[in-house]
Amino acid sequence: MNELDFPQDFIFGTATAAYQIEGAVNEDGRGPSVWDTFSHKKGKINNNHNGDVACDHYHRYKEDVGLMQQIGLDAYRLSISWSRILPSGTGEINQAGLKFYSDLVDELLAAGITPYVTLFHWDMPQVLDDKYGGFLNRQSALDFANYAEIVVKALGDRVKNWITLNEPWEHGCFGYVMGKHAPGKVKPWRYLTVMHHQLLAHGMAVEKIRQHAPDAQVGITLSFTPVHPKSDSDKDKQAAHMANEFINFVTLDPLLKGHYPKRLWDKFGWFKAPIESGDWALIRQPLDFIGINNYSREFAHHNRWVPVINAWIAGGGDVPEHDFVKDGVQHTSMGWEVYPEGLAEILTWFREDYGNPKVYITENGAAFNDQLIDGVVDDPKRIDYLNQYMAKAQQAIALGSNLNGYFVWSFLDNFEWAAGYDKQFGIVHVDYKTQQRTIKNSGLWLKELITAHQQRRENSDE
Ligand code: FCB
Repeated sequence: MNELDFPQDFIFGTATAAYQIEGAVNEDGRGPSVWDTFSHKKGKINNNHNGDVACDHYHRYKEDVGLMQQIGLDAYRLSISWSRILPSGTGEINQAGLKFYSDLVDELLAAGITPYVTLFHWDMPQVLDDKYGGFLNRQSALDFANYAEIVVKALGDRVKNWITLNEPWEHGCFGYVMGKHAPGKVKPWRYLTVMHHQLLAHGMAVEKIRQHAPDAQVGITLSFTPVHPKSDSDKDKQAAHMANEFINFVTLDPLLKGHYPKRLWDKFGWFKAPIESGDWALIRQPLDFIGINNYSREFAHHNRWVPVINAWIAGGGDVPEHDFVKDGVQHTSMGWEVYPEGLAEILTWFREDYGNPKVYITENGAAFNDQLIDGVVDDPKRIDYLNQYMAKAQQAIALGSNLNGYFVWSFLDNFEWAAGYDKQFGIVHVDYKTQQRTIKNSGLWLKELITAHQQRRENSDE
């Protein structure tokens, strides 16, 4: 039985992203995105996997919505593939692409599930990367706003919750600094430029959403990974401070405080972002909510050879990638430490340092090595993970956090970017040979939690 008890209007959902689940990459006029190109380059993705078929959600969305309904979800966070709508990034609209999302939205609404739509989850049309280097160029923000306008005009009558970007830090850092995600660039000196253009893209899109869907709630999804000092030394503490500015506050400070984190900004010297007049007014527009993605934490220690931040950041990524217990602490199959306290820490930042805005947890979840045996996927570690993180969320609400909902990452096992299909985050198992779906025990656990929550809701209505 579940001990968790959330406020009545708290919503439960799950999340996915277009390239991770849709497949059908060459169908109905879709153009290639940077992820199509990147995943087809040898050696970029574990086992050279790609998203060509993925979970075939493009063809199976009705069945998928049916499963969501079976679990009892209030909401579903999906993302839209830019190159399905605008195969050339700009210009002619692919009506078949718009129709797919319009049908999906209708299916969700008919099932009583509220769509939360993310406009950009990392899959920029390849042409825009070819033309001007994607987010290296300011034009990307204008083109994104144009795309946002087209989508909101088409769906804004039914979609009332919009998320402009997913995790601009991950996209900027993994895609343009480290090159381990699409578009695979290694240009660390352009880090702040890429961040700035993404934030600008966000701001310009917010204007368009407000214009065409004035009754909608608009936000952005950011990733947060608290970084702790490896030791008590002042140098390590300093390293952790810089790492937090680099990873966490580089997006939050501009959006909510109207400036880049001070020390980070100063340290970038010649390589600061090219800010033009009017940029801050766009970036710092009032938002209706912030989406928080959190999985784990990291550690930092002083390292003078790492430019700018002088910090070596480690935790998740550098440990063997399978689920294991170290010093009594569970790690997921991504090698990420299970650290629910980190979610509490993030929610405290929001409450105490950022004016307690309305927030949702738009992603939280875990990959473990699941097995389907006799039609059952028993995943107690995931249940335990979700239970612990949700308990922290509940405690934060009791402390005054303005937290309104929780979306599990992910609805389905899917294409986990550079890790390919081996890392399973779903509460629904996917057999990639047959595309058969099986609700895991964690999905059934969530169903039970939601049923109890809804019952309390109904009882208090009587
Ligand atoms: C987040 C991404 C999401 C998924 C999870 C595990 O950073 O937004 O697409 O890959 O991590």
